[in-house]
Amino acid sequence: MPPTSPFATLPKAELHLHIEGTLEPELALELAHRNGVELPFANADQLRAAYRFENLQSFLDLYYALMAVLRTESDFTELAEAYLARAAAQGVRHAEIFFDPQAHIHRGVDLDTVVRGLRAALSGARERHGVSTRLIMCFLRDQSEQDALAVFEAARPWFGEAVIGIGLDSGEIGHPPAKFTELFRRAREAGLRRVAHAGEEGPASNITDALDLLQVERVDHGVRCLEDPRLVERLAAEQIPLTVCPLSNVRLRVVDTLAQHPLPRMLDAGLLVTVNSDDPAYFGGYVADNFHALAAEPALDLDPETLRLLAANSFKASFLDEEARSGYL
Ligand code: ADE
Ligand code: ZN
Repeated sequence: MPPTSPFATLPKAELHLHIEGTLEPELALELAHRNGVELPFANADQLRAAYRFENLQSFLDLYYALMAVLRTESDFTELAEAYLARAAAQGVRHAEIFFDPQAHIHRGVDLDTVVRGLRAALSGARERHGVSTRLIMCFLRDQSEQDALAVFEAARPWFGEAVIGIGLDSGEIGHPPAKFTELFRRAREAGLRRVAHAGEEGPASNITDALDLLQVERVDHGVRCLEDPRLVERLAAEQIPLTVCPLSNVRLRVVDTLAQHPLPRMLDAGLLVTVNSDDPAYFGGYVADNFHALAAEPALDLDPETLRLLAANSFKASFLDEEARSGYL
């Protein structure tokens, strides 16, 4: 994205962003050095060269492996602080940020270290960067529900002010929403907001099940909804937000090329679509870069008004209260 891109100043909310996916190669190497973690990459260019993915799982393998460099509270603070600075420069005014507690707990980093570290950066983000923030705790769908429930219970002291919701991520194939009905029931009971990745690599039925069985309020990705016309009608009628991540979809081969991305068809169907960056350090761009790439692809034929609508949708689809939301619209 050129520095003068109009998309850098277009106010937007980011609703689908994994904080661990903002770990840039330079910071990963610096943290590895500081924490005495050996990585099989000598420099940032070597690491970047490994960012060629066949599918979601080949990305997740590297994404989880690189997390080994995140060990202390201040590592998480530095990670989040770097994201916030970049987000502000990309026109982000509000960010609902995912993190993966199980991926840290399973390698011996406790939950409080992660949340305290992230909070140290997020708590002053509005003053320092002009970005309001929320945290959404994601659960790994390729792990058991029992493991998720144990982490959920341990996280209760953080619910409310620090953590406002839960999500579901990681390998979608073979791990349908039905596996996590009790987790989402407890989240509802605890008054938490609910989202889930569905219809990224997995079938449209995962979107239907996330709505019916987990009662999610927003669907992450959801691009495969177009395979089920009745589902599309329902998503449009209920205006259920979909957090679409175009550059991610290209890098993870959910679509062959950006020119073939279903976003215009989703808009034509009346869906409440938003544009997001997912794991920007790995997928070649932050959120304004995603807007820029969409605008620059002639086959998508997105006019400036549609791009402004996509940015407005991001506030509409956020978990901000009505008053805060209307301040952005
Ligand atoms: N975790 C981080 N990025 C993800 C993605 N795109 N899909 C599923 N899980 C993820
Ligand atoms: Zn994601």
